[in-house]
Amino acid sequence: MCGIVGYVGPRSAQDVIIGGLRRMEYRGYDSAGIAVVTDSGLAVAKKAGKLANLITELADSPLPPSSHGIGHTRWATHGGPTDGNAHPHASYSGRVAVVHNGIIENFASLRAELEAEGVVFASETDTEVAAQLLGREAEGGAALADAMRTVCGRLEGAFTLVAVDARTPGRIVAARRNSPLVVGVGEGEMFVASDVAAFIEYTREAVELGQDQVVEVTPDGYAVTTFTGEPAPSHPYHIDWDLSAAEKGGYDWFMRKEIFEQPRAVADTLLGRLDAEGNLVLDEIRIDDAELRRVDKIVIVACGTAFYAGLVAKYAIEHWTRVPCEVEIASEFRYRDPIITPTTLVVTISQSGETADTLMAIRHAREQNAKVIAICNTNGATIPRESDAVIYTHAGPEIGVASTKGFTTQIVACYLLGLYLAQVRGTKFGDEIRDLLDELEQIPAKMQQVLDGIDQVAELARRFVGQRSLLFLGRHVGYPVALEGALKLKEISYLHAEGFPAGELKHGPIALVEEGLPIFVVVPPQGRDQLHDKVVSNIQEVRARGALTVVLAEQGDEEARPFADVLIELPHVPTLFQPLVAVIPLQFFACELATLLGHDVDQPRNLAKSVTVE
Ligand code: AGP
Repeated sequence: MCGIVGYVGPRSAQDVIIGGLRRMEYRGYDSAGIAVVTDSGLAVAKKAGKLANLITELADSPLPPSSHGIGHTRWATHGGPTDGNAHPHASYSGRVAVVHNGIIENFASLRAELEAEGVVFASETDTEVAAQLLGREAEGGAALADAMRTVCGRLEGAFTLVAVDARTPGRIVAARRNSPLVVGVGEGEMFVASDVAAFIEYTREAVELGQDQVVEVTPDGYAVTTFTGEPAPSHPYHIDWDLSAAEKGGYDWFMRKEIFEQPRAVADTLLGRLDAEGNLVLDEIRIDDAELRRVDKIVIVACGTAFYAGLVAKYAIEHWTRVPCEVEIASEFRYRDPIITPTTLVVTISQSGETADTLMAIRHAREQNAKVIAICNTNGATIPRESDAVIYTHAGPEIGVASTKGFTTQIVACYLLGLYLAQVRGTKFGDEIRDLLDELEQIPAKMQQVLDGIDQVAELARRFVGQRSLLFLGRHVGYPVALEGALKLKEISYLHAEGFPAGELKHGPIALVEEGLPIFVVVPPQGRDQLHDKVVSNIQEVRARGALTVVLAEQGDEEARPFADVLIELPHVPTLFQPLVAVIPLQFFACELATLLGHDVDQPRNLAKSVTVE
């Protein structure tokens, strides 16, 4: 949560920082602010609400010219979304300004200590204690980097801090613990940000910062140390996507663009996974095959949409590997004292790679000596760095707060992992694995087919504009799809939506069904045991009670057709792969309905893309 940008170089700091904040706004949009260093001290502007409010204010009263400053978009934790609580926060003398992402857990005792010394606080935030502590160190004669190291040593919790000192022009100091920070390396200019999208327009060379590190940045270079001042190794890398990937490219919303990008994203995630002999290779898995053969339990840990991707994956992984697989919500994982042993394989799924709940679950699992494989979309993020191995999804940047291509590529990455384990453990023959991979490779074209017929779903959204409540049903892998369809609708349309296992409905939730209630039902492909027929019966049960049924079934499913008030036909795919095509109409429906309701699809209320607090 919260987006941070810092710049030092020859350009207008205001322009670079506001441009960067535009791309960081997905991380939080409760307020925005900027501080630049000028010859006469710090100049600060901050405003509650979206970045647009700050931009309007700056148009009326621009900041003085400066080529050195910091900016912030906020997702409020401590203190409401007001002008006063907006970052940057300044020290009592007005000399040091700070932006922060995370939560300083011991802020109350630090604030009491400072207040006892006579410091008067201007905000209700936890961040301001960092500003005041840095100010106190700087006034005592410490250089900004030394001040930062001292202050970080006193803070508990999660934080990325970026600071400027009005008396030290041309220098930014930043620090991180449990919260993201990257450095952008330009020619004669440098950037710091929560995410590379903030500076991708200027450079594709980046440096990732490790845990508990401080970086001091000038136009010509950077120096990384630990919190205790020892030089620390840095990890430069090249960003393999460009500005166009981080822009809307003619779409009204990032979410819509990302829905349409799914065929490409899935194809890219599948790319280069076979060796010359046709064996599945996952180069990123740095865990010994012998160790993978010893695995006797798999636990998938994730949040939100990534958790639902894990629920889908469980069916395939257990089926292909015959290893028991549990799926856990990350925020619940460590609190229930899970049984984790050195032969447990923990698989974490995270689009951003920064989700605090998931990160803490990884640390807990590794403390129990389990091996951890991360499935992640963000190169160099904290979660892959703290895992034993990583499978990257190659979805490109996902900016819309509601995850779409994240979900489908996560499922594909889990499938690759499942098939790899089946290959290593010998639970599937090589030709069976290749057949499944062949089927997977056809998925992008099938997804495209669904997208080509998506106008029908736009029409459906128009029809349901007045609805306050909708249900989603599925069985087997269709159940997590139902959950995901409901989550998408809640997130961006603010409607009551729930997903249920189709067979569970009669154990209670069927009481919700009344005349005209829309119920989306994901029908499995025909011919898989009794699965298909059971779901068709469930459709009849709700229809008999007045529900308006929107049925997602494969083309040619004449058994489902008679019970569909609206039929959305899906291309034929194997049962385990159906979520990859079935979820698309549900994503599109939510996007379309939220648009018709006049909501901000990319920045839904109360949410942020990257949830870096527990
Ligand atoms: C999905 O639409 C959500 N915004 C959210 O549930 C998200 O999937 C969850 O917070 C996990 O994020 P991650 O994949 O970045 O870890």
